[in-house]
Amino acid sequence: KKRVGILTSGGDCPGLNAIIRAVVKAANRKNWEVYGLPYGTDGFIHLAKGIRTPEELKLGEHGYDLPGHLQGLDILQFLSGSILGSLSKGNPEDPEVAQTILEGYKLLQLDALIAIGGDGSLDIIYQLAQQGNWNFVGIPKTIDNDVPFTERAVGFDTAVDTVTNALYNLTFTAASHERVMIAQVMGRDAGHLALHAGIAGGADVILIPELAPHLSDMVVDGCCRQIAHIRASGRQFALIVIAEGVRNDHNEKEKYIGDYLAQRIEQHSQKLCETGHKEFCPLSAIDVRVTVLGHLQRSGTPSSSDRLIGTAFGIKAIELIEQEAYSRLVVWQHGGVYSQPLDQVIAVIRQCHRENRCAYPVDPDGFMVQTARS
Ligand code: F6P
Repeated sequence: KKRVGILTSGGDCPGLNAIIRAVVKAANRKNWEVYGLPYGTDGFIHLAKGIRTPEELKLGEHGYDLPGHLQGLDILQFLSGSILGSLSKGNPEDPEVAQTILEGYKLLQLDALIAIGGDGSLDIIYQLAQQGNWNFVGIPKTIDNDVPFTERAVGFDTAVDTVTNALYNLTFTAASHERVMIAQVMGRDAGHLALHAGIAGGADVILIPELAPHLSDMVVDGCCRQIAHIRASGRQFALIVIAEGVRNDHNEKEKYIGDYLAQRIEQHSQKLCETGHKEFCPLSAIDVRVTVLGHLQRSGTPSSSDRLIGTAFGIKAIELIEQEAYSRLVVWQHGGVYSQPLDQVIAVIRQCHRENRCAYPVDPDGFMVQTARS
């Protein structure tokens, strides 16, 4: 009989609860106990400070209390967010905080910990696990899909659907007003979300950091010419998707890079008009509007694919613990669930962060890019 801890850390995303549900179900079948740490590593601080007792953290058939007639595990996979909470207020990189976390961990007397996180939180928990000699298994989740060694992280698929639906909705208002709609899409330094949703949502231009690292004059000119080309073909509206990781023309990050692009398009089209390109002159000047999709992308009913992958990942984590195969990340590769040594994963994450690169960028020669180009 084993005691397994589970926590969610970093930005939330749809599908976290599907993982938790699968872990509890798979563990219960083996008659193991599962303890759900509230608010990531803060859960250990709560234990160390006596704010909660280990018994209070036990996840059973009913999970934590959930509203409605359907209780606990029955509905968990349909819910977005994380029933455990994902916010950590204590900074585990502070040695004093780390010490308290390690003390709390000991109190729970776990055989193993499952941490569901993105690249940043997996690295932090990996360090804690090394300090505390924890038996640790990681599960990747992030709408950015930027965890190395896994083709899919939980949360990404739902986010693609959310953005695709938003683009669909923007299309009609764009058409009614003959406007150019710019949608700013999350993804941190990766363009996966913008690229996938941009293709599925029929965007006319998709700007991702892997292909357009910054909004150079050439990129802005390309946008304007593409708009002119679309208009010349008879359609008077257009849809542009820009990933938030694309930088301004000074190669700096902009919180509202969509607005920045809108200004640049307006300025540049005016310049084009002044230099004799009548298609950009006042009467037909480009009317641009910007939508920042923001945290809507982190919620919504988890897609079937995120539930499926989340469930498979949860079961795999329990399987690894049964085999005492620790320090591994559950991954999705070539249509199946495998695991990868965490030291390899973390080494890539750190190397990429040192070089200011995304740890799992869009492949510029990949299928998705080829599809977008055509
Ligand atoms: O990493 C997930 C993510 O949603 C990014 O796409 C986004 O840049 C960031 O988190 C937003 O973070 P916060 O919720 O802290 O604003």
